[in-house]
Amino acid sequence: MVDLKRQYHKIKNEVDEAVLNVIESTAFIGGKPIQEFANNLSSYLSVKHVIPCANGTDALQIAMMALDLQPGDEVITPSFTFIATTEVIALLRLTPVFVEVDPKTFCMDPVALEKAITPKTKAIVPVHLYGHSAPLDEIMAIAEKHNLIVIEDNAQGIGGDYISKNGKKKTGTIGHIGTTSFFPSKNLGAYGDGGAIFTNDDALADKMRMVANHGQRKRYYYEIVGCNSRLDTLQAAVLNIKIKHLDEYIKARQAVADFYDKAFANNPKITTPYRAFYCTHVFHQYTLVLNGVDRDGLVAFLAEQKIPSMIYYPVPGHQQQMFAHYETAKVSLPVTDWLTERVISLPIHTEMDKEQLEFITAKVLEYINR
Ligand SMILES: Cc1ncc(COP(=O)(O)O)c(C=O)c1O
Repeated sequence: MVDLKRQYHKIKNEVDEAVLNVIESTAFIGGKPIQEFANNLSSYLSVKHVIPCANGTDALQIAMMALDLQPGDEVITPSFTFIATTEVIALLRLTPVFVEVDPKTFCMDPVALEKAITPKTKAIVPVHLYGHSAPLDEIMAIAEKHNLIVIEDNAQGIGGDYISKNGKKKTGTIGHIGTTSFFPSKNLGAYGDGGAIFTNDDALADKMRMVANHGQRKRYYYEIVGCNSRLDTLQAAVLNIKIKHLDEYIKARQAVADFYDKAFANNPKITTPYRAFYCTHVFHQYTLVLNGVDRDGLVAFLAEQKIPSMIYYPVPGHQQQMFAHYETAKVSLPVTDWLTERVISLPIHTEMDKEQLEFITAKVLEYINR
């Protein structure tokens, strides 16, 4: 689905030098590139605090740990997301409340969100799925009305612009907290695991820094129960180089999406990704909704041609066995179910060429128009 090798070769000299410098320095943990990266990301996003951590799942967990929530408190989130979003809620003995998504944007439906609020609700986690922003103006207005904290799961949305009623901002910086992942295939991917948390709130930043560092401010004085979640120096060194290319990487993904859009336009069996007026789509994934197509057949046909494709996600959160004992998982989410049966993601990355795109689109259409 991605070609990280070709991408690496374009920046090889710079990356190799940076990696070797870290090895020479032996500052594998807590080395200088980490703070440099936090500064780079904070100016890229125009956000006050960036707290690097070990991965995007930890980023969500640390954010929730910093909110002093009590067991049984409810956190509202879409069911149609990667499991990390909902898993950490349960891990912290909180209750995940699964809500419906919009059938066009695949993101949290604000009407469903407001309906799901109860006196136990404490936080909302919208997900910028596939690189398309959730409707943050509506979500923030609801959060304000009900005094709730918003944690944006920006693992798939980094670099996207949200055109808010208050001006243009980067996704992940509009809620009280934003989180992201630097999993290698992400739009800003490291060469291993990595993640970060962002906020403009000084008190939350201080608390989240503590949580990520065993609950200590001062070494060996542990004020609260925390965890150990660090971005390592080698990953930060790689990310310092890759962040300079992030906008160009996003443009390359958008060009791929444009090509696919044109090739599949007006085909009644294919719905191409929607792009809402309020955001720029950064196309972490290019995901089609199939209408009346045998999806398994298409996946198998593409695999025969050595074209990868993926189903993100075949089983929604509320139907996963891990949540079977939650009353809140016994909900009917017809749009989510409908999408899980029909979506398919095609290869999209920074190194795709016209020949590959022509081949992929021709094969998809060959199967669909049979
Ligand atoms: C929406 C979403 N949230 C959270 C995560 C978790 O990130 P990580 O794999 O770095 O833990 C991912 C990525 O895999 C994701 O796609």
